[in-house]
Amino acid sequence: VRHLVGIKDLTESDIQLILETARQFKDVINRPIKKVPSLRDVTIANVFFENSTRTRLSFELAEKRLSADVVNFSASGSSVKKGETLLDTVNNILAMKVDMVVMRHSSPGAPHYLTKHIKANVVNAGDGTHEHPTQALLDSFSIREKLGDVAGKRIAIIGDITHSRVALSNIFCLQKQGAEVMVCGPKTLIPKYIEALGVKVGHDVREALAWCDVANVLRIQLERQQIKYFPSLREYSLYFGISKQMLDELDRSIVLMHPGPINRGVELTSDAADSSHSIILDQVENGVAVRMAVLYLLAQL
Ligand code: CP
Repeated sequence: VRHLVGIKDLTESDIQLILETARQFKDVINRPIKKVPSLRDVTIANVFFENSTRTRLSFELAEKRLSADVVNFSASGSSVKKGETLLDTVNNILAMKVDMVVMRHSSPGAPHYLTKHIKANVVNAGDGTHEHPTQALLDSFSIREKLGDVAGKRIAIIGDITHSRVALSNIFCLQKQGAEVMVCGPKTLIPKYIEALGVKVGHDVREALAWCDVANVLRIQLERQQIKYFPSLREYSLYFGISKQMLDELDRSIVLMHPGPINRGVELTSDAADSSHSIILDQVENGVAVRMAVLYLLAQL
């Protein structure tokens, strides 16, 4: 496969290859000289039609650590605002001899559409509510680093499942590696199709925390909600918010994850987010090595 559009398209051995390659790159970027010449003759465009902090900077750093040439495009401030189409935008960037496109877009399927119309490699950096494959890969890398393996572990994904691309990519990635997955949240924020994917569904956050080895907590994505959903943020934090006290009261230690950005005081209290249970900043650190692995492996094809 010349592209990374979604985890759904990967086999378990593809995932293991990416995670093992990432482990080697993590050793590289912890050395005093963090760069390798692997992508010296490759030019990569990071094309972002939606806001990002972690994913955009992490891809850019991964590309620079691999010695690629990098250009960054944000739709805001670009000629998209004058009506230029997605395909015209990308074809104009490619005309400047770009080899790979890393794209974030609000429309599910936009990266898949690009793969049908351009010759460059395409990496999905998040497409609407569909997939965020490199986030799921860095989440699995972080679980493996903390717990030794993903297989056999119980992972609870807690929050706004309906509007999340992180949830779907994680479900595919974790199940392919032999983990048990539960999604937990208010009924209004869990889509009907999710049970058909073979996940447990729960609506009680304390039960989910008592069941799992890892809690991957998602934020309420107000920007994607077309109608006003129940619950309100205040109700959500009351019934589904996770505090350090709730984690401390469990009869065994669990790992707390969050893809960011955190809505502090809504899905997590600050004392939970910053507690010893949390590996949230390890996830961010691991994102660079995982993205190096994805870009390096795609460039070999
Ligand atoms: N986790 C994540 O995708 O964060 P950003 O939206 O800041 O890239």
